[in-house]
Amino acid sequence: MTMRKILAANFKTNHTRASTRAYVKALDEGMGAMGYEEEVYLFPPATALDRFETANDIRVGAQNAYPTVKGSFTGEIGLEQLEEFGIETVLLGHSERRHLLGESQSFIANKFAWFKERDFRIIYCIGEPLEVREEGDEAVRRYLVEQFEGIDTSYEKLILAYEPVWAIGTGKTATPELIETTHAQIKQLSDAPLLYGGSVKPANIADILAVPGCDGALIGTASWEVESMLSMLSQVKGQK
Ligand code: PGA
Repeated sequence: MTMRKILAANFKTNHTRASTRAYVKALDEGMGAMGYEEEVYLFPPATALDRFETANDIRVGAQNAYPTVKGSFTGEIGLEQLEEFGIETVLLGHSERRHLLGESQSFIANKFAWFKERDFRIIYCIGEPLEVREEGDEAVRRYLVEQFEGIDTSYEKLILAYEPVWAIGTGKTATPELIETTHAQIKQLSDAPLLYGGSVKPANIADILAVPGCDGALIGTASWEVESMLSMLSQVKGQK
């Protein structure tokens, strides 16, 4: 296999400033040691954002940001805070922000347009909850189409992540067949690279990345230990 794969680590509300620094150093050294040449995205918590000097292509992004340069948005960060550290990547539409924090599709679409206008790389997440999956493929397709409402699916700096809500942080990974079917549906809607996310770990990443139409993985829990992340990177490298 020669296709490039994109891996991204989502720390969520894990790691401190100090432990993120140690993680980046270990990741960078590990990537160097194995000769890993593709980019790796890393989304630490906002308090750990920084300019990291790395020898390898580690791109630090924000898990969330408000569509503003600065202003009165208590608890949020805007462009000014991201620019301080040269952050050019943002994760939008994550299911935890949609479902736990109550972000609506129209608000997410606003953010998307705003950060697109500022030329950010956007990793945009979509995915259905269990009750929709249980209704079958057509219900899933309709649900995913709604999550593209207001989104420029041809934006050249877009990376998509399909993350079924029922597979996130639950240990329940979607089967390769289900990922293949759903990725094929999504690929009819956008040509952007398409990652899979939801309980990806060292034990299943090779099978997941071998799925036709899977261009990489967005990893939560299994990315938090650097050894685990490096084990996944080495499998990507081994697949080439
Ligand atoms: P998980 O999270 O790997 O812990 O399932 C994935 C994600 O939410 O991006």
